[in-house]
Amino acid sequence: MILKLEPEEKDMLDGKYGKAAQKSMEILTTLGEIFDAECMIDVLCVQIAGVSYANLGEAGLEFLSELAEDGKVRVLTTLNPAGMDRENWRALGIDEEFAKNQNRAIDAFAKMGIITTCSCTPYLIGNVPHYGQHIAWAESSAVCYANSVIGARTNREGGPSALAAALTGRTPKYGYHLDKNRHGEVLVEINASVKGTDEFGVLGKIIGDKLVELRKKIPYITGIHTATVEELKSFCASVATYGGTALFHMEGVTPEYNKYPKPSEIVFKINNDDLDKTRVELIDDDVEIDFVSIGCPHATIHEIAEIARLLKGKKVKKEFWITTARPTKRIADEAGYSKIIEEAGAKFAADTCCVVAPIKGRFKAIMVDSAKACYYGRAKNKFKVKIGTIENCIEEAVK
Ligand code: F3S
Repeated sequence: MILKLEPEEKDMLDGKYGKAAQKSMEILTTLGEIFDAECMIDVLCVQIAGVSYANLGEAGLEFLSELAEDGKVRVLTTLNPAGMDRENWRALGIDEEFAKNQNRAIDAFAKMGIITTCSCTPYLIGNVPHYGQHIAWAESSAVCYANSVIGARTNREGGPSALAAALTGRTPKYGYHLDKNRHGEVLVEINASVKGTDEFGVLGKIIGDKLVELRKKIPYITGIHTATVEELKSFCASVATYGGTALFHMEGVTPEYNKYPKPSEIVFKINNDDLDKTRVELIDDDVEIDFVSIGCPHATIHEIAEIARLLKGKKVKKEFWITTARPTKRIADEAGYSKIIEEAGAKFAADTCCVVAPIKGRFKAIMVDSAKACYYGRAKNKFKVKIGTIENCIEEAVK
């Protein structure tokens, strides 16, 4: 298929809109050709990943600085978590040199007109599409949430392709932007009661692992009758981590579940025993927890209210982070939740998280309510891990 470009897109490619737009259009047309896109489409908004200096390094920073020379974003764009809380980094033990380099990266993004709020839950802080709208997001959990829970349309962009979409307002029309690629492939029947962020994370791991085994991507899930935003964000993070899933349908819960035929050829079932067995896999033996973190994906104001309720009048005895978007932290400040939490000795880590912050070697074992954090806690930071409810995490922190 030949990729057709509109006159403005051709002008970008020819350099008439400057170097950054030209480079961006080169990235997007290359992607479009690889994936057989027919044309480009407008995107409503962008979310960029790969923001931590630990991931970017000097090479990434050079790429950003080059684009920032004349590049300006054309659509609303926010960032994924950075390697540190931009205000509270000293209290969280981040060293001076890292902070300086992280700020250089953020400054380059800011120069391009990007809103430098760093969060993996852009949909909680105003970077939010409506059903059917085309966007270009990069963070895997947010991509899964946008496609599945909101019914918006995005591929899982890489850092450069998301930035290119921001600088041109376009993305090639392929993959999840097309109806034909959004139908369920595997029927998953849940015969268990699933509740809480931890359990939805465990469910995401079971389904994700199975999808990898079946070499399929889009599950159609039955048997879950209701789910909160928090449970769905946890499920999205987990199924995306373990299964590479960017889209699922959940009967009666997600907006596109009855838009496409229900798959019937491949069926697998999940019961309470499966949940129990998988939960055990997310708890290492002989763990002595020295770090507790809640907010993967970034905590909602509901979760922060719950943490404040559970911590009121108590003192934590372990390093305890609540990772969230800075605008959510500001609401927590106004509501008085931050004061209760900080008086208990817990710390907010806004703009960042326990996975992207450079904390390898600082702790031995982490307790979380997130199956995704278990995966990266082990794989990236070499921590031992333990999953539990938010309440379990608080109990552990004050022990
Ligand atoms: Fe977000 Fe970090 Fe978890 S980016 S999804 S809090 S690993």
